[in-house]
Amino acid sequence: MKMDANIERQRRKDEHVYFAVAQHQTKTTSQFDELELINDAVPMLNLADVDLSGEVAGLEFEIPLYINAMTGGSPHTEKLNGQLAEVAAATGLMMAVGSMHAAIREPELASTYSIVREKHPNGVLFANISADLTPEQAQKAVDILQADALQIHVNVAQELVMKEGSREFDHWLDNIAAIKEQVDVPIIVKEVGFGLARKTIMRLRDINVDIIDLAGKGGTDFARIENARRRDGKWDYFNDWGQTTAQSLIAIQSPNYVNMPYFASGGVRHPLDAIKCLALGAEAVGIAGVILAYLKEHDVEETIEWVETWKEQMKMIAVMVNAKNLSKLRKVPVITYGRLKEWGELRGVK
Ligand code: FNR
Repeated sequence: MKMDANIERQRRKDEHVYFAVAQHQTKTTSQFDELELINDAVPMLNLADVDLSGEVAGLEFEIPLYINAMTGGSPHTEKLNGQLAEVAAATGLMMAVGSMHAAIREPELASTYSIVREKHPNGVLFANISADLTPEQAQKAVDILQADALQIHVNVAQELVMKEGSREFDHWLDNIAAIKEQVDVPIIVKEVGFGLARKTIMRLRDINVDIIDLAGKGGTDFARIENARRRDGKWDYFNDWGQTTAQSLIAIQSPNYVNMPYFASGGVRHPLDAIKCLALGAEAVGIAGVILAYLKEHDVEETIEWVETWKEQMKMIAVMVNAKNLSKLRKVPVITYGRLKEWGELRGVK
């Protein structure tokens, strides 16, 4: 029985990777395109002057970019985690692992996550759990990875579309609060691709969560992935749920918004999307599906080169808007169009 449940969980991890990559190849448009930065034709700096390093909640980084939570928990995903960690180590990216429940239930699976620390010994790494675990289990996840921060994912839509998913959520907030009190690293609460809205963010701020990751719609779509895994098509119509990362970023500019540090992720396709997130105040930007899909088609060396291009181009785009660091970038005006503009007006954003 236990064996069957394990095989089922491992299969789920492998299927998530398979469907995420398949889905990625079909993505074309993005609401990031309704955001525009203004070109500065006479910038007052050189490329070499740009420094995008930063610090938030004691986490220090050279470049505000991280590989977001994806995987671990099966032999296939151990290999992937190892490769992603090699890329992160060579390029100085921060990195999260996927949900660590498997390692907490089955100690022999811990290596499928801790391989990331092995390959990225000095990296800023994020452990990852759901809001269901106890503070003791949360601390265990942190210890397995020797993590610098703990991501707690909140994924109601995914759980509900998943046949075998959870149906009980009323304890989540208290649980997150208890984890925050007892775990010895900063807490990041993240969605998995449906966005974090104002009321949610205020609840999280009130229990002293350190950082939120907006993790909006527009990239990997877990409603579609879980619907594909069900194979009964019952949620076929459900493909536009949640708020995009661009919407979440615009809403957070509202003067009624709480002031707390935020990361942006979800549907970030290229360095320009990343810079738009930073201009809208994100402390750092996460990529998941896009790097996974690249790594599936290329080797580690090529993926390292690809990340180096991202880093270089992020700096180049910073020059184009005359911003030599993150605080200057946050002052760069961002123009919105279309539905995104309408959304901003509805949220009271000037
Ligand atoms: C994910 N994501 C995810 N998030 C999380 O908090 N815990 C997890 O275990 C997973 N697992 C996972 C597997 C795979 C294969 C993918 C592609 C993604 C969600 C991820 O961290 C991110 O929030 C979303 O994928 C949206 O970002 P992208 O993919 O659009 O950049």
